[in-house]
Amino acid sequence: MRQATVCIHKQALQHNFQRVKQLVPTAKVVCMVKANAYGIGVQPAIEAFDEADAFGVACLDEALEIRKLGNQKPITLIEGVFSQNEMAIAVAEKIECIVHHQQQLDWLYNYKEQYQQAGLKVWVKLNSGMNRLGFKVPEIIDVIQQLKSDGFHCVLAMHFANADVPDHPMNQHQISQLLQVKAACMPIEVSCCNSAAIFNYPELHFDYVRPGIMLYGASPFEDRSAQDLGVQPAMQFNAAIIAINQIKAGEFVGYGSRYKAPKDMTIAVVSIGYGDGYPRAFVKDNFVAIEGQLVPVVGRVSMDMITIDVTDIAAQVTIDTPVELWGKTRLVDDVATANGTIGYELLCRLTNRPKRIIE
Ligand SMILES: Cc1ncc(COP(=O)(O)O)c(C=O)c1O
Repeated sequence: MRQATVCIHKQALQHNFQRVKQLVPTAKVVCMVKANAYGIGVQPAIEAFDEADAFGVACLDEALEIRKLGNQKPITLIEGVFSQNEMAIAVAEKIECIVHHQQQLDWLYNYKEQYQQAGLKVWVKLNSGMNRLGFKVPEIIDVIQQLKSDGFHCVLAMHFANADVPDHPMNQHQISQLLQVKAACMPIEVSCCNSAAIFNYPELHFDYVRPGIMLYGASPFEDRSAQDLGVQPAMQFNAAIIAINQIKAGEFVGYGSRYKAPKDMTIAVVSIGYGDGYPRAFVKDNFVAIEGQLVPVVGRVSMDMITIDVTDIAAQVTIDTPVELWGKTRLVDDVATANGTIGYELLCRLTNRPKRIIE
């Protein structure tokens, strides 16, 4: 059988949740489980985050998946509903909505009584400079005041564009807008911190924080590793060696004959490729890990295979030797950097091909 496995460590997920609680002693925690819990899998994630105050998802289908698993915790739709019909379902399933444009407000008002009777909060999105979703200042102040006077319980929600870069000038601009709206709408609950902001802005935790990537044991920062942040990789992505070849100096490896052996080498073929979600971009040296040692990837990544240079550890490897693509030794963030992307993307874009194991 093809050895390609994605092993999810629930203990690591639980550890990472506790790390959030340690950093955020008072605010409620909305665990972000959108995009199949960043590729980890919704079920193990919500089971591991059983102390979460709420879950955050990007669309109604993701919320309904949580309900189908029998979980009745509060859920926030961070883009709100996309139609009147979705609002009806959201209310029936007790799912809280963000509102970020007028049409969503109209849909909300059409379900005003039901929404309020279900005890649901309205999350009102501030566009403070990211220019994706939200009402700008001063419009948002009118929106919130109207909602409040119509009996809605509001949460003021904002998202940082540069929370991972603490001295980025946009941060102060966004914070000052948030504080201005907060002051104008008191009393109001507030939520603005993703993982990076949880670390960088303890004074802005307010009522709800919304961690994502740190729960899965990866880092939102370029210059701080998961270990630096005190979180543990929740995903172990492994494959195995399926062939070992001796090649001579000057021979080529893989598609495009892009890698030319500088010396006589031992090349192992590993049963993983971009068909599994292993990245192909390769912008700088990339490695896998074997028994805790980093081993270079050489040649192009194929759909089902990669080739690695095991010359220095030839005596240690055989057919079936396990190879870590990412996990405890080779961090997903480092694989991402070697491929010009971010850990978030690699976790999310894994395919269903590798076998999933929940531990
Ligand atoms: C609105 C919102 N809040 C929180 C998060 C979680 O961010 P992170 O994974 O960086 O913690 C996201 C993720 O994209 C988001 O879109």
